[in-house]
Amino acid sequence: MKAAFIREPGAASVIQYGDVPKPEPQPTEVLVKVGAVAVNPIDTYIRAGIVKMPLGNPHIIGCDLAGTVEAVGSQVRRFKPGDRVWGSNQNLFGRRGSFAEYAAVGEEWLYPTPCCMTDEVAAAGALVGITAHLGLFLNAGLKSGETVFVNGGTGGVGAAVIQLAKAAGAKVITTVGNDTKKALCESWGADCVLNYRDEKLDDRIREFTAANGGLQVWFETQREPTPDRTVGLMSNRGRIIVMAGRAARPEFPIGPFYVKDLRMFGFAMFNATPAEQRECAEAINAACEAGHWQPQIGKVFPLSEAAAAHQMQEDNTLAGKGTLTGKIVLKP
Ligand SMILES: NC(=O)c1ccc[n+]([C@@H]2O[C@H](COP(=O)([O-])OP(=O)(O)OC[C@H]3O[C@@H](n4cnc5c(N)ncnc54)[C@H](OP(=O)(O)O)[C@@H]3O)[C@@H](O)[C@H]2O)c1
Repeated sequence: MKAAFIREPGAASVIQYGDVPKPEPQPTEVLVKVGAVAVNPIDTYIRAGIVKMPLGNPHIIGCDLAGTVEAVGSQVRRFKPGDRVWGSNQNLFGRRGSFAEYAAVGEEWLYPTPCCMTDEVAAAGALVGITAHLGLFLNAGLKSGETVFVNGGTGGVGAAVIQLAKAAGAKVITTVGNDTKKALCESWGADCVLNYRDEKLDDRIREFTAANGGLQVWFETQREPTPDRTVGLMSNRGRIIVMAGRAARPEFPIGPFYVKDLRMFGFAMFNATPAEQRECAEAINAACEAGHWQPQIGKVFPLSEAAAAHQMQEDNTLAGKGTLTGKIVLKP
């Protein structure tokens, strides 16, 4: 079968596209005929060797996938051939990646794909949707009527945060880099969309949240968080989520933080158990069926152009080019 793989970590150009053996599903695995995969920043960190994971040789890249069950191992109970499935968490901790015509995936990492999702949409919303749900609900305990702030409203995680928070009855403030992205966030129900370059950004957040005493949840997606600023904008008993920027070492305002009874949660989605992730996936499927889940696809590549797809992700997430609006999806 064809796959996108690496033989050693390096720049996006180390990604090769070619023939590798088709996997045989183990007893607890499902063989998926892949319809679509999506790129995430973590894929580029693993490929570059910045995030160390055990790599095979060749090592198929990619976390997210969606497709159709081709065959199941003898102990698989939740799926049968012909079922449509989506999932994430491949390419991690020694698991093979998803960027191939077929992927053998442990059944605990797969979820049924509802009719409202194409494979492209299911893959585009996979890792980012689970991440947003873990942050908002498992960690921050978001409740209806609370106000959430998220940076980067059309980013992978930001878009998922907006949509899941709105589906839960929260108010959402988000930031974007241009007016086209603003309109997109508004179409998902964001209540206040601001340009992150606006010099009066914090005044506008304060105005919007004055009636609620500040923000109840701050979901930080940026690799250089701003704790001093964030703490100042929170209401008493607010919750701050941090989940990006491994190298970040900002100063932290302990005094202002504790006198507001604030809490801060950090998490990496790949540490969540299969049961925790499945709860997120079921909520995402339900949000889709209720019309609240619309992952934005910014660019579609053939799988053979996986190197270009990784480069585009890096240009945007790391170099801040702003040339991408939504997720990068590839089709085998
Ligand atoms: N801990 C975890 O489990 C976990 C899971 C997923 C992702 N992550 C991490 O979370 C981060 C975001 O991931 P992603 O997939 O959402 O990335 P992404 O799709 O590249 O989104 C990044 C967003 O940041 C926005 N942005 C750029 N400069 C900004 C600024 N100065 N102020 C505010 N927003 C700005 C961009 O907005 P414009 O496009 O409008 O410029 C874009 O929407 C990455 O570092 C990733 O590694 C962590």
